[in-house]
Amino acid sequence: MNTELLEKIQNLKKKRNAVILAHNYQSGEIQDLADFTGDSLGLSIEASRTDAEVIVFCGVLFMAETAAILSPEKTVLLPDKYAGCPLADMITADQLYQLKLKHPDATVICYVNSSAEVKAASDYCCTSSNAVEVVNSVPPDKEIIFVPDQHLGRHVIENTGRKLIIWPGYCKTHAMITARDITKAKEEYPDAVVMVHPECNESVKAIADRILSTGQMLKFAEKNSAKHFIVGTESGIIHTLKKKNPNARFIPAGDKAICPNMKKITLEKVLWSLEDMQYKVTVPAEVAAKAKTAIDRMVEILPSK
Ligand code: 13P
Repeated sequence: MNTELLEKIQNLKKKRNAVILAHNYQSGEIQDLADFTGDSLGLSIEASRTDAEVIVFCGVLFMAETAAILSPEKTVLLPDKYAGCPLADMITADQLYQLKLKHPDATVICYVNSSAEVKAASDYCCTSSNAVEVVNSVPPDKEIIFVPDQHLGRHVIENTGRKLIIWPGYCKTHAMITARDITKAKEEYPDAVVMVHPECNESVKAIADRILSTGQMLKFAEKNSAKHFIVGTESGIIHTLKKKNPNARFIPAGDKAICPNMKKITLEKVLWSLEDMQYKVTVPAEVAAKAKTAIDRMVEILPSK
């Protein structure tokens, strides 16, 4: 059905020497089109390694900004300029500077779901797959400010025993997943393994079997022989889970966990993006230089799972 569109994209991709990167929350057709799909950490590593001249980032703004900071010589395109992240917008650099004034000796760790300015004001960046390892790499006597996701922050406290000063941000999509959704799905599939994202609230995580980043969910499902999995994260990941594990069944925890920003990227917009070389994502050099230190640490500290 989309053959003509896909052919046009492939031809232009060659002509522009472009690579298409897609997050695990993108629609199935975008994930199938991409040269590389992954979680935030995997995509950042891929963006830093590719030798393509152009990166078409099928994800949201903070992901494209991270790619632009890691590969300043490349052109990074976001096919929809309004694909943002409400969680990343829940803290500004100014608010972080105010918090730092109250805790002048604290080490600042920001979740990758944050603006380039917030990253520039941070010592370390982390993703959901290596947040625990990043926090553990900070000397134990150091106070830590952790922004902006409170639920990831609490997951880290639980797994490190460290005290963190956490910012009250949260993901609006993961907030749609409730403990009731999980128990309802569990009633229907009592043998199912429940895997949820650390951005879920604490009552959801308390009844999960595994708390994993999207990339870790994909690895876990491939190694696990269970027939049913209840999945507590954005619905886009179900596509690849099914594709890679055709004999297992993946049940979304509720039907509301759809990120409207991730879903702004369509095949048409990818084509237009390559045609018009839009929308270029750039980060001012001074901000990028400061943010790069935090991001470099993020890509160096690998998750243990
Ligand atoms: P992952 O790094 O697990 O893919 O999470 C990305 C994200 O933005 C979750 O909302």
